[in-house]
Amino acid sequence: MYCVRKVTDDLYWVGANDHRLHLFENIHPIPRGVSYNAYLLLDKSTVLFDTVDWSACRQLLENVGHLLDGRPLDYLLINHMEPDHGASIEEILLRWPEVKVISTEKAFMLMRQFGFHIDGHELITVKEGDTFEFGAHKVTFVAAPMVHWPEAMVTFDLTNGVLFSADAFGSFGALDGKLFADEVNFDRDWIDDARRYLTNIVGKYGPHVQLLLKKASGILDQIKFICPLHGPVWRENLGYFVDKYDKWSRYEPEEQGVLIAYASMYGNTEAAAQALASKLCEKGMSNVWVYDVSNTHVSQLISESFRLSHIVLASVTYNLGIYPVMHNFLMDMKALNLQNRTFAIVENGSWAIKSGDLMQKFIENELKNMTVLGDRLTMASSLHEDKASDLESLADSIIESMKK
Ligand code: FEO
Repeated sequence: MYCVRKVTDDLYWVGANDHRLHLFENIHPIPRGVSYNAYLLLDKSTVLFDTVDWSACRQLLENVGHLLDGRPLDYLLINHMEPDHGASIEEILLRWPEVKVISTEKAFMLMRQFGFHIDGHELITVKEGDTFEFGAHKVTFVAAPMVHWPEAMVTFDLTNGVLFSADAFGSFGALDGKLFADEVNFDRDWIDDARRYLTNIVGKYGPHVQLLLKKASGILDQIKFICPLHGPVWRENLGYFVDKYDKWSRYEPEEQGVLIAYASMYGNTEAAAQALASKLCEKGMSNVWVYDVSNTHVSQLISESFRLSHIVLASVTYNLGIYPVMHNFLMDMKALNLQNRTFAIVENGSWAIKSGDLMQKFIENELKNMTVLGDRLTMASSLHEDKASDLESLADSIIESMKK
């Protein structure tokens, strides 16, 4: 059965939802699923904007076939060829062999690398600033390299203000019928998945997102719809989401608040983390979030690190080093280019307390534009009452640093 939704008078969502995939890119958990969005324009010419993951190909074909209703498919426009969107290209070419494919030179190169059999079909290479007419609709192309792959572009429909934004402005989470962001309580139910998607998938490429936002700023008042390749379509309150993307890609925190990430073997470092959380709340800073790095997926830790201004790392010493899962968190912060945060350190060890120095060294040498507070809470095996004043000082120091 087809499953489509109207976006504008002649533009339809023809994508699919996926609740079967557990790990996006085989690494990020997606308990709420994901959508692969594709769009079909029924103008004088018919145009399919992007395809879907191979697992959703059948649904795409049913959707497109239903709406075409016997008409030919004239154009396949590929903004982003990564296989979660491009894997069905070849099947579209088999079904509609006369279709002309529009994309960037680099995208065609990558399609060949991935073994998509595109040669033998008419390929139209476009670049930034080019325009194309499909009848009433005229579109222009904007290069979006590294948002999220180098070949990516976005397409802007000059006729009705629809921005086909590729991976930009996407989110984890299956749509399950609710196509538009204004049909859900986005700020309550979706923002965490949107942040986790952007920061983990495109977080490393903040400057490239900034570049795209800069290009878009010139036409911001003309953009009426944002149609991403994952997650809801935006047609209201676009500024809300553009502002979030701006903050995330500038590595600016959304909120003053404290992420306490602890690595604990026998519960003693955990107890210190809880004591610090209580102390912070007692002193008036209750935007405090405590996570056990051993049972929280690192994509969630990264997302929270992008949200909050302060990060407390509380780690036991393990094999004379940083606890491996905590170390992995630090490595991911580096890989995803997290910047502009204030850190505090809590360290533990029973005969050689090393984790604090090692975490500080990592933050100072491997991460960019970070501040490590001078106060540090050090404990041997467990936190005793003689450390009460150190705990107090650390909490004071965190709160004081928020005033600057
Ligand atoms: Fe959803 Fe970069 O692909």
